[in-house]
Amino acid sequence: MTLFSESKYLKDLCDITFSSYEHGWDERNGGNVSIRLTEDDLSDFDDVSETKREYDLGFDASAVSGQYFLVTGSGRYFRNVIKRPELDAGLVRISDDGSKAELRWGFEDGAHPTSEFPTHLMSHIERLKADSSQRVVMHCHPTNFVALSFTQDLDERSISRLLWKMQAESLVVFPEGIGIIPYMTPGTNEIGKATAAKMADYRVVMWPHHGIFAVGSDPDETYGLIETVEKAALIYSQICAQGGSVKQEITDEQLHELADAFGVTGNPEFLDWNK
Ligand code: 13P
Ligand code: ZN
Repeated sequence: MTLFSESKYLKDLCDITFSSYEHGWDERNGGNVSIRLTEDDLSDFDDVSETKREYDLGFDASAVSGQYFLVTGSGRYFRNVIKRPELDAGLVRISDDGSKAELRWGFEDGAHPTSEFPTHLMSHIERLKADSSQRVVMHCHPTNFVALSFTQDLDERSISRLLWKMQAESLVVFPEGIGIIPYMTPGTNEIGKATAAKMADYRVVMWPHHGIFAVGSDPDETYGLIETVEKAALIYSQICAQGGSVKQEITDEQLHELADAFGVTGNPEFLDWNK
């Protein structure tokens, strides 16, 4: 078995996949994570110079050719990654022509990258344009957030505002709000393109009736972003469970005060004035 204990990012991957499972956001094989590694991070793995297998990507990923990604395996359970990371996770290098992923470590019993790898890579490519420090893409199925996609209009402004008003933390953690794509078939290049297009403006994208995609600069931050969104959705579910009538709420004026106090800029299209 290949040693892996030196890689901080592999440990982080184990940590966030297991925490996500414990929250109930990853039934069976639900969810996937990818982390872009730099050359410096590779020294934590045993020799990664040899390509063990190749996977066709099915789209042109030349924008990240030569880059390395630690990624969870398709069909693998978040519950198990912590117990057997060398089977359920893999380190791949994107080929020079951008058409293939070259396996350099992991997936030792024959697994291949998540079926959502096109969405992950397209999202990495998009976020790299906005912020080169962002290296994590995480997908999972947070229960209350998914439930919102049934009860609310699939409108970015109204869902962002609803989540902002559930707790003071929301606006501070996701001031740009939430991007939403239409319901689409998972695992396709089409859903990847639609998600990446939203990633130009948002770090969180709702997949209606399915789950969430989130990006961040490190695993903790990305996981914390999802936790915060889901906590807001949970509070909304509890309000509905308590009868749904709200006697007071965070006002828009208070949202503006929050943004000022924490030095963030709330999406101006989603904030109202004089309310
Ligand atoms: P994978 O098992 O291929 O990662 O798919 C899980 C999932 O959540 C699909 O959206
Ligand atoms: Zn999914």
